[in-house]
Amino acid sequence: MIAGILRETGGDLRVALLPGETVSLIKLGLKVMVENDAGEGAFASDDQYRAAGATAEPRSEVIRAADILLTVNPPLVDDINQFREGQMIFTVLDPVTNREWLEKARTRRLSVLALDLVPRITRAQSMDILSSMATVSGYKAVLEAAMLLPRFFPMFMSAAGTIRPARVLVLGAGVAGLQAIAMARKLGAVVEVFDVRSAVKDEVKSLGGKFIEIEGAREDAAAGGYAVEQNEEFRKKQQALIQERAVAADVIIATAQIPGRRAPVLVMKETVEMMKPGSVIIDLAASTGGNCELTENARTLVVNGVTIAGRSDYPSVMSSDASRMFGNNLVNLIRNMTDSEGNVKINLADEITAGTTAVHYGEYQSQRLKQMLDIKQT
Ligand code: NAI
Repeated sequence: MIAGILRETGGDLRVALLPGETVSLIKLGLKVMVENDAGEGAFASDDQYRAAGATAEPRSEVIRAADILLTVNPPLVDDINQFREGQMIFTVLDPVTNREWLEKARTRRLSVLALDLVPRITRAQSMDILSSMATVSGYKAVLEAAMLLPRFFPMFMSAAGTIRPARVLVLGAGVAGLQAIAMARKLGAVVEVFDVRSAVKDEVKSLGGKFIEIEGAREDAAAGGYAVEQNEEFRKKQQALIQERAVAADVIIATAQIPGRRAPVLVMKETVEMMKPGSVIIDLAASTGGNCELTENARTLVVNGVTIAGRSDYPSVMSSDASRMFGNNLVNLIRNMTDSEGNVKINLADEITAGTTAVHYGEYQSQRLKQMLDIKQT
């Protein structure tokens, strides 16, 4: 079978597979074709892909010849007309945003493997692209906050007196939030943390963060480790407590998300107005609406002296290592679907493949996808 690596079309600097991970795919028995200059944004040349054993071709040739196509973001809607029935597309689908794209892929009888739907079970940890990208985001968010803050992060004792450590408030202790806590602690900040899932309390503590508990959060064991939406009473209580902690903070790293929904609004406009001038909010939930009421995606604003950066693009900014992690996860997923002759197969009896397959044979497959899109279960 032939795997084709596509160049990203929307300005994302990552590539689904770097030359190093291309070698791993070839070892599984696949042939690999890369679109010309696909690795440019992640500093990988066509010559490096050729040295890894791939061929570099124009886009139309890759789409024509490949049995499976690998891409970080869904290809252009127009490309779907060039794809052929049964071709497999591995991509981060973002099914709510790309619903129309997915519907077109379904009617064209393509098979779409949604890398953001990989089930969060132990066996699939090495395939979890969302975790890898969240790790990159949490890390970079703290570094950016440290650069923007007009203060030190660690405590400083010098002949010029003692400077208190910066106070960092982390909203959401998922993968990005935990990475942010670890980084902020490494830089010497004092860290406070909010999350609605009580399961993260011990992890936060073990990283040196202070977990602030709020009674009455709604949790759902069936949500696969993810958070669920909270009721109005809880939201009000949480916003008030966050306001109290935000006023004392120098930095807020906002990471709270609910899959398939708008991100919860946790930092209100009035809270920003009460924060110390010079403080910094890095909002990683920007692309799904933001955790701060004032966040604008892909923009950095200054409101009453508070810098608010809406950044959901750190994986693209850190294109090299983000692509390396992405490719490793992708190869692990494909390995689970490949037989000894190098044929990639969709076996819906396998829990990971069933959870990841968005559409196949003209039907919606993943149960979680059907829930997210409110499609009647079969
Ligand atoms: P996410 O990106 O969907 O959300 C980030 C965080 O925001 C979550 O911790 C969530 O509880 C929190 N949040 C949502 N609404 C909130 C609110 N109103 N207030 C405060 N916090 C709020 O989550 P992520 O990082 O993708 O992972 C969630 C969990 O999934 C992980 O912590 C882990 O337990 C589990 N997981 C399991 C894996 C596996 O077993 N293969 C791999 C990765 C994650």
